[in-house]
Amino acid sequence: MTAPLLQLRDLRVHFRTGRSGLFRRRRILEAVGGVSFDIHRGEVLGLVGESGSGKSTIGRSLTRLERPTGGAALFEGRDILKLTPRAFRPLRRQIQMIFQDPFASLNPRLTIEQTLAEPLFIHGLARNRSRAREMIAETLELVGMDPDAMKRHPHEFSGGQRQRIGIARVMIVRPKLVIADEAVSALDVSIQAQVLNLIKKLQRESGVSMLFISHDLGVVRYISDRIAVMRRGKIVEIGDRKRIFDSPRHDYTRRLLASIPRLPAVAD
Ligand SMILES: Nc1ncnc2c1ncn2[C@@H]1O[C@H](COP(=O)(O)OP(=O)(O)OP(=O)(O)O)[C@@H](O)[C@H]1O
Ligand SMILES: [Mg+2]
Repeated sequence: MTAPLLQLRDLRVHFRTGRSGLFRRRRILEAVGGVSFDIHRGEVLGLVGESGSGKSTIGRSLTRLERPTGGAALFEGRDILKLTPRAFRPLRRQIQMIFQDPFASLNPRLTIEQTLAEPLFIHGLARNRSRAREMIAETLELVGMDPDAMKRHPHEFSGGQRQRIGIARVMIVRPKLVIADEAVSALDVSIQAQVLNLIKKLQRESGVSMLFISHDLGVVRYISDRIAVMRRGKIVEIGDRKRIFDSPRHDYTRRLLASIPRLPAVAD
């Protein structure tokens, strides 16, 4: 087997919280308390757990939106957490994030063409406007949208369409690792399935690796090869999707499984 794309080792993230309690003392909150896992090339690792368990903090650490207090995150052998800003720059393209709220992450004043052209020019992937337009049209088709959409603005689209545009913006730069943080959580259930299908299809076709974060085990089950279950800043269990579902080892995983309202049909 080839070396993993990402090796997370003993990641720790602490936050200083506001003053509270009788003596109004600051407390240190351990949001991530020593988390390790690998993500292989072409693999989808699902990260699931209750609210506040530290899932987003891990995702944000991998894109350097958060400053961990300890550990290492080796991406193709180089520690993301320790690279200088200059050395990290090329990785900004290779590690992309899909967020929960597609509207908040799209600039309302820009057309979809402008929105999708921006990363192409920033990362030097298109030499001129016409090449960029070509790539944008192809990518819009890839996410199931009409290329004419590029002339319009974000407010003209539904939530599901906006998330497709968000996904287009990520995929257009050909990343090696995508971190999807509650990517379908804000969508209606019927739309969730469509967008999940799209993410799964694009992941398979492109072979991109993925960290798929969700509090919803039903959603995580559908898309993941392996699943890590988090609780209070730690991974309590990690394993192949089927193993986690067929024979969960940890009590907390069993409780999570029991709380799934209805399992979506998954072909095993
Ligand atoms: N910038 C911050 N400052 C202080 N505390 C923070 C900060 N960001 C996150 N936290 C705290 O760290 C813990 C982990 O938060 P995180 O957002 O990673 O959880 P999560 O698993 O993504 O939860 P959710 O399912 O609600 O998205 C929580 O207790 C949260 O309140
Ligand atoms: Mg979160």
